[in-house]
Amino acid sequence: MAEHPAYPVGLRLTGRRVVVLGGGQVAQRRLPALVAAGADVLLVSPQATPSVEAMADAGEITWLRRPYQEGDLADAWYALIATSDAEANTRASAEAERHRVWCVRSDDADQATAWTPATGHSEGVTVAVLTTDARGRDPRHTAAIRDAVVEGLRDGTLVAPHHRTRTPGVALVGGGPGDPDLITVRGRRLLGEADVVITDHLGPRDLLAELSPNVEVIDAAKLPYGRFMAQEAINDALIEYARQGKSVVRLKGGDPFVYGRGMEEVQALAEAGIPCTVVPGISSSISVPGAAGIPVTHRGIAHEFTVVSGHIAPDDERSLVDWPSLAKLTGTLVILMGVGTIGKVAETLIAHGKSPDAPVALIQEGTTAGQRRVDATLATVGETVRSEDVKPPAVIVIGEVVNVGPKTAAPRP
Ligand SMILES: C[S@@+](CC[C@H](N)C(=O)[O-])C[C@H]1O[C@@H](n2cnc3c(N)ncnc32)[C@H](O)[C@@H]1O
Repeated sequence: MAEHPAYPVGLRLTGRRVVVLGGGQVAQRRLPALVAAGADVLLVSPQATPSVEAMADAGEITWLRRPYQEGDLADAWYALIATSDAEANTRASAEAERHRVWCVRSDDADQATAWTPATGHSEGVTVAVLTTDARGRDPRHTAAIRDAVVEGLRDGTLVAPHHRTRTPGVALVGGGPGDPDLITVRGRRLLGEADVVITDHLGPRDLLAELSPNVEVIDAAKLPYGRFMAQEAINDALIEYARQGKSVVRLKGGDPFVYGRGMEEVQALAEAGIPCTVVPGISSSISVPGAAGIPVTHRGIAHEFTVVSGHIAPDDERSLVDWPSLAKLTGTLVILMGVGTIGKVAETLIAHGKSPDAPVALIQEGTTAGQRRVDATLATVGETVRSEDVKPPAVIVIGEVVNVGPKTAAPRP
């Protein structure tokens, strides 16, 4: 029998008798799917596990509390033989053979006339993986293939191009801090479904390499914007591609609403009547310190953290940040876009009462292969940025949390 591969088929069991012999772990694992398929399940077994018993109590299956007897399979369309009595299993499978009832045997796949595939479900599809040879059966291998396929369908890394579900309009997707594994499952799936991806220079650039060649990838920084502002050119491009009926993903670094101008794009799309989905992302403000071993809060050390943009220096009249008040906070300060201004920021914080010895860490290109951490104090950070040649993108953390973790960052998984 094992010389030929099994013939795969889907059984439509609604209302049809399925006989299960044995109420142990095998039955416990298989019964829910049989019940979900609408089968009329008869369990024959002197004992059952508590969850099998609960299914009988709930009326989902009929339970005959006795050992297998000749004739039990008479009305069955399909049988699952899984008792702990090898002799009873052999008699039952002989009966199944005589009555031409397909039967699975948990104790001897070679003697069975049917095998149960490793199954999983995703978006209206059942994935079933069968081994081709009973002797070489490796249930972990088939389960691993099933997991890989189902996971791939769920997270969008596996796309069936002719049958994909398309999300109309624009999806504004937070791509996370840079490591391609740190985008959300939903974000990754939408990327896999996109016709056009408009991207920034930050975020998970490695993911773009995985996109199929027919996906148009547009670097937002390179959009021609002539008389217009760059942001208006991006808004126009989003609207134009969506009006062409394309699935558009606007991929941003971190979270779209943390210094990401995400809401400006949402507003422009709403004005143009284009549907827009927002997919949150992991912001660099928390994840980049974490990747370098720095928690933004820690019991007994910091009960608050404040995220600030450093893109405008404190002495610039356009600054909206109340630096004197920030100097008085006892918690953690996280500064984004602050590499160029950190010297002046540090002077201002010290001038308004922050300790010159306050620990500072700068984490450049966090969560990527180029991640680098440089430590300093508030008094030395301006000079350290120059001497260590720290470059954007970097997250700057000020506060005692800098010193609570081990100094050696955990390796990237
Ligand atoms: C325009 S803001 C966008 C922030 C983004 N929306 C977020 O939630 O992470 C860009 C700044 O985020 C920080 N940043 C983003 N990704 C980073 C990374 N992988 N490593 C270090 N800093 C990063 C830097 O401070 C950079 O200048």
